[in-house]
Amino acid sequence: MPSVPSAVTFDAALGLAVLRTPNSVYALRIGADGSPRHVHWGPVLDPRGLPHPHSPADSSFEDEAAADELGVQSGARFGPAGLQVRFPDGTSGAQWRFLGHRVDGGELRLRLADRGYPLTAEFCYRVHPDSDVIERWTELTHTAAPGDDFGPITVHRLDSASWTAPPLPDARLSHLVGGWSSEFQLHRDRLPVAETVLTSRRGLTGHHASPWLALDDGTATEERGDVWSTALAWSGSWRITVHRDPVGRTTWTGGFGHEGLSWSLRPGETLRTPVFAGLHTPDGFGGASRAWHHHVRTRVLPEPDRDRPVLYNSWEATGFDVDQEGQCRLAELAAGLGAELFVLDDGWFGARTGDHAGLGDWTPRPEAFPDGLRPLADHVHGLGMAFGLWVEPEMVNADSDLYRAHPDWVLHSPTRDATELRHQLVLDLSRPEVEDLVRTTLDRLVGENAVDWLKWDANRPFTEAGRAGHPDPDRVWIDHTRAVHRIMDRLRADHPGLRIEACAGGGGRVDLAVLARTDQAWTSDNTDPVDRIAIQHGFGQLLPAQSMAAWVTDSPNGLTGRATPLRFRFHVAMAGALGLGGDLTRWTPDELAEAARLVAEYKRIRPLVQHGLQHRLTGPDGLTAVHYAAADDTEHAVLVWRPTTRFGHRPAPLRLPALHPAARYRDPETGRVYDGALLRHRGLDPDLPAGDYASRLIRLHRAD
Ligand code: DGJ
Repeated sequence: MPSVPSAVTFDAALGLAVLRTPNSVYALRIGADGSPRHVHWGPVLDPRGLPHPHSPADSSFEDEAAADELGVQSGARFGPAGLQVRFPDGTSGAQWRFLGHRVDGGELRLRLADRGYPLTAEFCYRVHPDSDVIERWTELTHTAAPGDDFGPITVHRLDSASWTAPPLPDARLSHLVGGWSSEFQLHRDRLPVAETVLTSRRGLTGHHASPWLALDDGTATEERGDVWSTALAWSGSWRITVHRDPVGRTTWTGGFGHEGLSWSLRPGETLRTPVFAGLHTPDGFGGASRAWHHHVRTRVLPEPDRDRPVLYNSWEATGFDVDQEGQCRLAELAAGLGAELFVLDDGWFGARTGDHAGLGDWTPRPEAFPDGLRPLADHVHGLGMAFGLWVEPEMVNADSDLYRAHPDWVLHSPTRDATELRHQLVLDLSRPEVEDLVRTTLDRLVGENAVDWLKWDANRPFTEAGRAGHPDPDRVWIDHTRAVHRIMDRLRADHPGLRIEACAGGGGRVDLAVLARTDQAWTSDNTDPVDRIAIQHGFGQLLPAQSMAAWVTDSPNGLTGRATPLRFRFHVAMAGALGLGGDLTRWTPDELAEAARLVAEYKRIRPLVQHGLQHRLTGPDGLTAVHYAAADDTEHAVLVWRPTTRFGHRPAPLRLPALHPAARYRDPETGRVYDGALLRHRGLDPDLPAGDYASRLIRLHRAD
């Protein structure tokens, strides 16, 4: 496969911009009407050989017109528009004039101005020498001078980018759906000739859908086939509209916000969208995931090379019933198992003895922590572990001192009933005074209590959002999310070494923007290992294992009631950033000893799981397996799980296509040596013990 460093060129004579990544080419051309039109995204080819894209005016048949780089709602365009504006005189839609371009290293900016109104746009693209990911975003500016008579321009929609795949005879959409405790379920559906909308209207990224997708022609596999995949870096509401037309073309446009919202762009103001990143690979869904993992590790996660610690979290053990003595006892047991971080979860503050009260009052509950949190933090540190603390800074209970003092600080409408979910309301972080309070409160908590790790939770979506009487009531949908990002950034800057875990009632806010300022995400409140296999399968489509928190909890599972062996629970959780979340005071000495042995085993494979290359060997059902390979092929770990089995149905051996055919590999546990070619083509017998909930960790070392 050709592999050249990324580069950007702009041929002014042809109006042709070409972005080259090591294994793909992206091209667009400035149309005769001044609009940038899509030319090519996919395998390496010379885009000058492709037909000149038609503009809508070139033909009476709109099907012949090339897709816009960002669809506008003017002229003979009838697809989903990524830019929708209304000027103060009532005119809708932009009509572009091309002003010029700028290339700066791997970055391309196309500058456009509306032909009749004071509005400019920059379509921005960025490529990197070691990656096939193309980052795109848009900046829209009201160019009238502030104080000018020209009123605000209403922006009904500003997407980050519109993407176009080459015409495919058939199209299949891979996307993630779910709900609380069933996040990240991978769906692979034939794409109808229609507009398909993936969205969150919740103010959070959402449990129900993720802003990631992959498109193929219906024939791609884990290892082979062209896949186009995109991911939006935004942690609030979002919308991606995929449009497949009857002539086989698929375009999709996406960005922040859902339908029905508007932003009033004031003279002199610029609205910048989040990044919408995309990649093409010929290497199937597995290749796409590995390319995303590389991107996340090199350009998203703040400290990708740091090992994620084995953590203990008290939530499933103690619920709200936390106190200093009980937490110290759990910390001692966790340290004995090899945990490196102890996280005190919900219930430590205010009047928080259940989910009905106290949220917003971030001082330790005196009956539980009479001398504050410092004695627990010191005890944890004395045991050789880092100290972590749960917070839910964007929320309040109505029964809290903060709400009583500032009832107007929550998202609400004075003429509507305020919807309480889990007895709580959402603070309006678009108000500077609320953002300031949240930031200073967290800063104080971290500083005073020697906190090394914050678990940042958010347990409900927005309702009654918007500000009655405010000239721009929908701003809150974007400004709240921006404030959350700003606070996280500032905390990290002010407390070097502080790590943050993203959480929203499980995996309700997992995206490339939150992971740019957190170290890992709490994947799901569902810790049943059988359910987890599918959840983890979906999570890993975009995100690497080091960002996927996975706990071993009690059996039977508190949520599903399913009883599973400790070893199976461990083996499933070892596929991510391992954590422990059970009530260790009730584990038998044998269970504690087995757990300590398995934690030690995890630490041995941690470099592979957290920093290696992930190869999914199967789908998420039946016998499933994931292979983690060192980039230099020296070491490998394969985790195999079989929740249930039928007598007489011996599974096929697991083929390991990532191994080198000419190399030999040794299993250090059995001493057996295998030919790479044999393991690649015939496969490895996982040799699982009989019965349900069987699992194995197989390690292989390169023998020559
Ligand atoms: C939801 C989280 O996902 C749980 O892990 C736990 O922190 C609870 N919130 C606490 O209320």
